[in-house]
Amino acid sequence: MTLVWKDEYSVGNAELDAQHRKLMEICNRAQASLAQSDAGDLHLILNELAEYAKYHFRTEERLLEECGCPLLDGQRAGHMAYEEQLVELMLEATSSLPDKAAIHRHVYDWWMHHILGSDRQYAPYLK
Ligand SMILES: [Fe+2]
Ligand SMILES: [Fe+2]
Repeated sequence: MTLVWKDEYSVGNAELDAQHRKLMEICNRAQASLAQSDAGDLHLILNELAEYAKYHFRTEERLLEECGCPLLDGQRAGHMAYEEQLVELMLEATSSLPDKAAIHRHVYDWWMHHILGSDRQYAPYLK
């Protein structure tokens, strides 16, 4: 399954949309390296995902803070929980190829839920 950006995914902010697109692109690369059973490559990509996710979350939190969005606390909690999940997944991926279902949950489902579910709720506040 490849994630493809659609205009309807927009949260109405060009910087955040660009970051979400980049995150989807990293998720697609993670999936491709898993399909090739390339544990070393997958580990590098998960590291990149963790770094970029952190950067993205901080950007999102800063922008929500600036506009006084009441959803900020919920966003922060969701971001922190995900960062922890990703650390666990990366630990799992150091010794062997992680379970496909775990990758699916943490890489695909989580990001689609993040972008299409929780993030779109703050869109009206950013305007
Ligand atoms: Fe986001
Ligand atoms: Fe978010």
